[in-house]
Amino acid sequence: MQTLKVDLGERSYPIHIGEGLLDQPGLLAPHIGGRQVAIITNETVAPLYLERLTRSLAPFSVISVVLPDGEAFKTWETLQTIFDGLLTARHDRRTTVIALGGGVIGDMAGFAAACYQRGVDFIQVPTTLLSQVDSSVGGKTGINHPLGKNMVGAFYQPNVVLIDTATLNTLPARELSAGLAEVIKYGLICDEPFLTWLEANVDRLRALDQDALTYAIQRSCAAKAAVVGADERETGVRATLNLGHTFGHAIETHMGYGVWLHGEAVAAGTVMAMEMSSRLGWITPQERDRGIRLFQRAGLPVVPPEVMTEADFLEHMAIDKKVIDGRMRLVLLRRMGEAVITDDYPKEVLQATLGADYRLLAQLKG
Ligand code: NAD
Ligand code: GLY
Repeated sequence: MQTLKVDLGERSYPIHIGEGLLDQPGLLAPHIGGRQVAIITNETVAPLYLERLTRSLAPFSVISVVLPDGEAFKTWETLQTIFDGLLTARHDRRTTVIALGGGVIGDMAGFAAACYQRGVDFIQVPTTLLSQVDSSVGGKTGINHPLGKNMVGAFYQPNVVLIDTATLNTLPARELSAGLAEVIKYGLICDEPFLTWLEANVDRLRALDQDALTYAIQRSCAAKAAVVGADERETGVRATLNLGHTFGHAIETHMGYGVWLHGEAVAAGTVMAMEMSSRLGWITPQERDRGIRLFQRAGLPVVPPEVMTEADFLEHMAIDKKVIDGRMRLVLLRRMGEAVITDDYPKEVLQATLGADYRLLAQLKG
């Protein structure tokens, strides 16, 4: 087992990473203050891991709330189901909410923990690659609004993150690829040598090689922990973690939540951000193509949906948490391994990026 730390003063917390950690009760108990525990999970993950986690929590009084599965259920209505479960079981303010599942469960359970009786203890047990490398760390919680992704939520840090890498053995291949989008993101924004490692190891990751997965998760979490430790509330550098997300969130919202997986939208969105960076002369077309090739090898889409027009993108991109005073700030690559957030770009370059022929770029690399 490896343990990293998210350094946030008195709200610091450990991230435990290893195979089989679900069966180690000693890792969670020290982070549970009261007697009551509520595990929030969904109908896919519950049959796989709920019983094991519940067994690990034997000394506590444990309830579970099993939600429907899917991004389309990341809503107020589903959040209400969590509160229904907590109140029906008379959970008090010393209860601990545990998220068992992917990013959808983690974001919703975290938001519920932030709101329930004005805030109760919270633990993340992420079971998708995406949630293990990104969403379980850093305290962003929330739900979607029909007009915009993740538009309602709170910053609320967990007490501990428990990553059992063996849970990835049951994850569908498409979901594993979606997680790789966020792994590749770290290489692009702040760790160029990691990109080189990924190019050499992407096939091992897709084949679920535990050593390769553990290394990639640990390196991703270390990158995320450093950024969150420096800028918890996203007043600066944390925004770079959203490389590809402004374009990607537009895809997710326009296509309907869940049609494109979050990681898939991030991959195509990052290709658009790389294309724009290349048009600004910040990275070379060869470097852009290097990124495209890696996404393709990870099994990810690199062409935005054909049905989306430039106007569609602009409409959705105008509703983004990085828009300030009407100015659309974008995360772009200053160079491979260094992202910047900027609103200082010619409008025509954004227009040209939205109108670029991504099918051609994909064919050249495919
Ligand atoms: P997800 O939560 O929908 O999980 C993907 C699918 O895998 C679901 O069907 C789920 O039931 C299933 N699943 C989960 N674990 C499994 C396992 N071990 N075996 C088999 N099936 C399993 O999707 P995700 O990709 O984990 O998360 C995406 C969400 O995370 C989006 O809503 C996105 O906005 C959010 N997100 C949040 C942050 C953050 O910082 N809070 C960062 C990135 C993404
Ligand atoms: N996933 C972006 C962030 O946590 O800031």
